[in-house]
Amino acid sequence: MELYKELHAEHGCPLKPSRTNLVFGMGNADAELMFVGEAPGRDEDLQGKPFVGRAGRLLDQLMEEIGIQRSQVFIANILMCRPPGNRDPLPEEIEECKPYLMRKIQLIEPKMICTLGNFATKTITGSPIGITRVCGRPQQREIAGLDLTIYPLFHPAAALRSTGCLNDLREHMTRIPGLLEELRKPAEAPEAEPVGAPQLDLFG
Ligand code: URA
Repeated sequence: MELYKELHAEHGCPLKPSRTNLVFGMGNADAELMFVGEAPGRDEDLQGKPFVGRAGRLLDQLMEEIGIQRSQVFIANILMCRPPGNRDPLPEEIEECKPYLMRKIQLIEPKMICTLGNFATKTITGSPIGITRVCGRPQQREIAGLDLTIYPLFHPAAALRSTGCLNDLREHMTRIPGLLEELRKPAEAPEAEPVGAPQLDLFG
């Protein structure tokens, strides 16, 4: 993939010196569904793959519960390099990585993007409203020039720490197959106005 090669040559992330591997993202390049997380953690940095640690195993399990395999989706992160000690991504790191994420979205053309956690949700929607208020509520947005459904979800790492988050994440994920089914339906053409139709007599 051209973008992958270009990235290794040109990606000027400030985190380059401290990372082990760049985590490009992985999965089906024709996926209808993308998951976007925050940034690689220790396991991801070591393996060069997204969501392969504890949070990733939980994500796999929850996908399996709704009949979705990892091979069907594309999984990426806002950042491609691990922030030292898993600290929060800095604005300049997000700005460096975001154009590459947008190009992945343009290439894959998913029907829906599930944003995992606060950072991914705020970065993708461009809205400051936090995950607790928007999780489980699909929203229509123009992202990377595409009209997409964004479905914000709690981050699996938060679900590992809180049973409440886990229950919410699990319940919100059960809606994914139905949402995708809806999005597969062709958009209905607006009904044409009958030409020269007689006016209804409103008063009998
Ligand atoms: N958390 C993330 O946000 N992304 C990963 O790839 C792993 C953990």
